[in-house]
Amino acid sequence: WWRNVQPAAKDPILGVTEAFLADPSPDKVNVGVGAYRDDNGKPVVLECVREAERRIAGNLNMEYLPMGGSAKMVEETLRLAYGENSDLIKDKRIAAIQSLSGTGACRIFAEFQRRFCPDSQIYIPVPTWANHHNVWRDAHVPQRTFHYYHPESRGLDFASMMDDIKSAPNGSFFLLHACAHNPTGVDPSEEQWREISYQFKVKGHFPFFDMAYQGFASGDPERDAKSIRIFLEDGHLIGCAQSFAKNMGLYGQRVGCLSVVCGDEKEAVAVKSQLQQLARPMYSNPPTHGALIVSTVLGDPNLKKLWLKEVKGMADRIIGARIALRQNLEKLGSSLSWKHITNQIGMFCYSGLTPEQVDRLTNEFHIYMTRNGRISMAGVTTGNVGYLANAIHEVSKS
Ligand code: LMR
Repeated sequence: WWRNVQPAAKDPILGVTEAFLADPSPDKVNVGVGAYRDDNGKPVVLECVREAERRIAGNLNMEYLPMGGSAKMVEETLRLAYGENSDLIKDKRIAAIQSLSGTGACRIFAEFQRRFCPDSQIYIPVPTWANHHNVWRDAHVPQRTFHYYHPESRGLDFASMMDDIKSAPNGSFFLLHACAHNPTGVDPSEEQWREISYQFKVKGHFPFFDMAYQGFASGDPERDAKSIRIFLEDGHLIGCAQSFAKNMGLYGQRVGCLSVVCGDEKEAVAVKSQLQQLARPMYSNPPTHGALIVSTVLGDPNLKKLWLKEVKGMADRIIGARIALRQNLEKLGSSLSWKHITNQIGMFCYSGLTPEQVDRLTNEFHIYMTRNGRISMAGVTTGNVGYLANAIHEVSKS
């Protein structure tokens, strides 16, 4: 049956983790996958999550959740994206389901787009998270790209981005990273978001926000929702993928939310029923445990406060790691500019290292990162920053 099946290409991000795990070297460093580590390089379970689990234990049954997941968790999650006092939530204008984290939210949306706007395409920034391409490809939505990153300045190519938004056919779908753009760590300023939103209005484009890193850009989830709030103020009907993988450290729990803002409650009821219908043949209904953790943390004012403090703690440690990496490179006398390490934000630094330089880092120094030169700053620690800087200097000096 399967004689003609060829092995699939390695995943450009998760394949790096596989290679890292297979390397016996004691010096090895993993700055590949975007997963937070403490300053000892160890995975972190947040204290608010531990406490939520203590409260849940004993009260947990193993029943199915509805197809759309936990209503309580969804409601709390929407407040994070749309605001505590959002009229859209009050007016029940948001169709939303619990999703299998951010990827699952993107995938259900892509399927929804394909089913109900079968002739549409999706405009994707260059570059973007590698898996975005897979998601829309597998949903059979044709992909177009728009300019985003400016390699020379290691910042945003705002002028070209705006040109692409203007020249796309009216009513196009655009994928936007709400904050802490992956992989570049480069976000539009508030002013630029306003201009983008205005132009979307002029063109009648549909903005779909992937918000996988809410809290990691500024340390404050509320501030990180600014891009979305600007679009909402302008009256856009948006779509949004939310994830608790990074900001609550619930990576393996696969818990997130897909929401679609609708014209009125009746439309939202219909859209939600169709989103559920898409989920049913894929996985029936989402898992319980992560949703309970989220609703317990966000539903209790004290636990939520603790969560906000812990998110800020993670974001601050990453900022410290950025400063340390830049200082170490400068101390080594690198003639290159490393300002972008501290200018970029969120979990990643888009270092500018070439695929060949990354290969040397891996082969000669056992340092693992994606070949596009993305460094997961969450994997940088006091213990490995000197080693990392030295290796980067060795492969990048002329
Ligand atoms: C990443 O970009 O490293 C994360 O979003 C993890 C993943 O699934 O790719």
